Amino acid sequence: MQTHPTEALAEFKSRRQQLIAQMVEGVAIIPTAAEAIRNRDSHYPYRFDSYFYYLTGFKEPEALLVLVAGNENKSILFCRDKDMEREIWDGFRYGAEAAKAEFGFDEAYSFNQLDEMLPKLLGNQTKLFYSLGADASWDARVTGWLNQVKSQARTGISAPDEVFDVRKLVDEMRLYKSAYEIDVMRRSANIAAAAHNRAMQKTRAGKMEYEIEAEFLHEFYRKGAQAPAYTSIVAGGANACTLHYNANNCVLKDGDLLLIDAGCELDGYASDITRTFPVNGKFSAAQKDVYELVLAAQAAAIAKVNTANHWNAPHEAALEVLAQGFIDLKLCKGSLSGVIESGDYKQFYMHRTGHWLGLDVHDAGEYKNKAGAWRQLEAGMTLTVEPGCYIRPADNVPEHFWNIGIRIEDDVMVTTAGAEVLTKNAIKTVVDIESIMAKS
Ligand code: GLY
Ligand code: MN
Ligand code: MN
Repeated sequence: MQTHPTEALAEFKSRRQQLIAQMVEGVAIIPTAAEAIRNRDSHYPYRFDSYFYYLTGFKEPEALLVLVAGNENKSILFCRDKDMEREIWDGFRYGAEAAKAEFGFDEAYSFNQLDEMLPKLLGNQTKLFYSLGADASWDARVTGWLNQVKSQARTGISAPDEVFDVRKLVDEMRLYKSAYEIDVMRRSANIAAAAHNRAMQKTRAGKMEYEIEAEFLHEFYRKGAQAPAYTSIVAGGANACTLHYNANNCVLKDGDLLLIDAGCELDGYASDITRTFPVNGKFSAAQKDVYELVLAAQAAAIAKVNTANHWNAPHEAALEVLAQGFIDLKLCKGSLSGVIESGDYKQFYMHRTGHWLGLDVHDAGEYKNKAGAWRQLEAGMTLTVEPGCYIRPADNVPEHFWNIGIRIEDDVMVTTAGAEVLTKNAIKTVVDIESIMAKS
C-alpha cells in the first residue's frame, strides 16, 4: 500500500485551499510525472511531480489534480482505477473512491475520464492555471480540451482566454517550509549526515570510489530514505575538480582528498551535503590550508543566513573570505576588491554558494523580487551553503596545491532567531575528521 504522511493530509488540503484562494477564479490543471522507460519494459524508479505532490500527497503515476475557483471552489483528483490484475503485478492502487476519502478531495474520477470531463470543467471559465511548456504531451492534450470548448462557442459556452503559469503561485508557497516540512527535512538531513560520517569511517586508500558510494547508500536505505536525492558525486583526488563528476569508478589514493556530494530523499524532501576529507585520514599542510579556508568561507556565509539579509549576502560573504584566502595562499594576485571585480577568483571558485532546498534539490522559488533586487531571507526558507575551491594544475599555481578540490555543503533553514544548520551532525572540522578517521 502506498505510504502517505497521514499527519500532513490536513496540510495538503489547506495548500489546495490556499492556491484556490490565490486563483480567485478559473481552473488549475496539475498533472503528476509520467513513468519513464529505462529500456524495453523496465522503468526508472517512479518519482512523482513535486508540484502535484505538494498539493496532494498522492504518489501514484497517472494522476492529475484539477482545482476550480470561483462561485464553486473544489478539488478534483483523476487517478488510476482499481485493477486486481495490475495490482497482482505492480501493487496497490487506491482507485478514485478510496483516494477521495483518504486524501480529502472533493471529487475523484478515473484517469480514463479526463478527455470526457476536462472540456466540461473548462467551459465558461475565464482563466486557466497550467504549467505550459513543462511537458509537450500534456500541452497537446490541454490544447485539445481548450479547442473542444472553443468549438462550442455557438452554443454559448466560452473557453478560458488567459493562461497563467500555476507554478509561479505554488513556487512562492513551496519556498516557506511548514513545521511538517521542516520535520521531514531535519530527518532527511540527519540520515544524510549519518551516511557521510559512515563514508568517512569506511574510507581507505586502495578502495574504489563506488565502494564508498555503497557505504552511504547503505545508510540512506537502512534509515528509510526512498532514494538518493540526486546523482551522487564520489570524487577522489583530481576528480573533485570536475564539478559534476559522477563516474565514481576510480581507486582512492593515499595522499588524495575525497569529495562526496550526496543527499537522500525522504518522503519527497531532499538533503544535500558535501564533505571533503583525506583518504588516509590526515590532511597534508596544503590540503589543510585550503580546507580551513573553505570552512571559514562557509562559516562566514552561514553567519549571514538570517532575516536581516538578502539571498545573496551569504554568497558575498563566502566570496570575500575565499578571495582574500586565494591572495594569502598566492593563488591570486592583487587587492581583495581587484580579485573580486576582475573575477580572477573564478579560476578556483566558479559556482555560487547555494540554492533553495526542498522537494527538489534545487528547489522552487525566485531568487530576486519583482523589482529585480535579491529577495530578503525569511523564516522557513531553506537553502544550501556550499562554498568550494577547485585547483587544477596551472602555471600560475604552486604545485603543492594541484588537484586539490574541496567543497563543504550544509543545509540551512532561516529562523526568526538566525539559522538552523539541519545537517549539523555531519562531521566537518579538521580535528573531528582526523579523530573519527583515526578511530575507524
Ligand atoms: N548536489 C547538487 C548541488 O550541490 O547543488
Ligand atoms: Mn547543493
Ligand atoms: Mn550538493
